[in-house]
Amino acid sequence: MPTCLITATNRGIGYQLAQLALQRGWTVYGSVRSAQSAEDTAKSLGAGYMPLVFDVRDTCAVEDAASTLDVHLDLLINNAGIIGPDRQSPLDMDFQAFADILAVNTLAPLSVSQAFLPHLRSSNTAKILTISSQMSWMGYRKPDTLAYRASKAAVNKVMQGLATTLEPEGIPVALIDPGWVRTDMGGEHADNCPKDVAAGILQVGATLKMSDTGKFFKWTGEERPF
Ligand SMILES: NC(=O)c1ccc[n+]([C@@H]2O[C@H](COP(=O)([O-])OP(=O)(O)OC[C@H]3O[C@@H](n4cnc5c(N)ncnc54)[C@H](OP(=O)(O)O)[C@@H]3O)[C@@H](O)[C@H]2O)c1
Repeated sequence: MPTCLITATNRGIGYQLAQLALQRGWTVYGSVRSAQSAEDTAKSLGAGYMPLVFDVRDTCAVEDAASTLDVHLDLLINNAGIIGPDRQSPLDMDFQAFADILAVNTLAPLSVSQAFLPHLRSSNTAKILTISSQMSWMGYRKPDTLAYRASKAAVNKVMQGLATTLEPEGIPVALIDPGWVRTDMGGEHADNCPKDVAAGILQVGATLKMSDTGKFFKWTGEERPF
């Protein structure tokens, strides 16, 4: 059975992904941000779940977690994300918050991918999937939630580059749009049930092929435009 690492498994889409992967017999390493959260999440998810404690912005903590882990990884899902505050419009930007959003949504997926690359390289079927957003789409000019939109557009570009770099090693790297999901981030009126979305994301992640590398998918599996 495969082994995966999912970031941010204590709630939202990440929790559902971890639960579903465990139900399918996978071994799941899941990051959380505190020892208390690790204890609570491990208790809730049960056997097969192994918590790792790091804040994805803390590259030293990410590297420490990677250096203490002596297993191969078949799939990395970069899931941790923040949407940030209301004040993120083009003429009224909270720049400190913008930097934090970039740190979590754009820089961290790359630093986590780099730190755990040795574990991925020791699998014959390694894959990297990063959760982006439909809000990254370059085909419209919506100005609201601009820092979040920009961070997801930027992570698309970062992961395209990683895809090209890892292509000779046979490690596919792709992005996924989960739609609008009923989590703390998406709110109660969102379109999609987190369990359904997690099932779609896990399906795309588990079946990623080299012909998929550098592409952006909907959670339902169709390729979508950047
Ligand atoms: N929900 C949607 O409609 C939607 C739509 C498009 C894309 N997405 C993307 O889907 C992913 C998951 O979103 P969600 O809806 O599940 O969000 P959520 O319910 O708000 O959960 C966010 C998760 O990210 C973790 N996190 C935040 N900052 C972190 C940090 N610095 N280090 C480590 N973990 C951190 C949180 O941990 P704590 O509990 O410790 O804060 C939490 O586990 C995100 O990348 C998001 O951008 C969501």
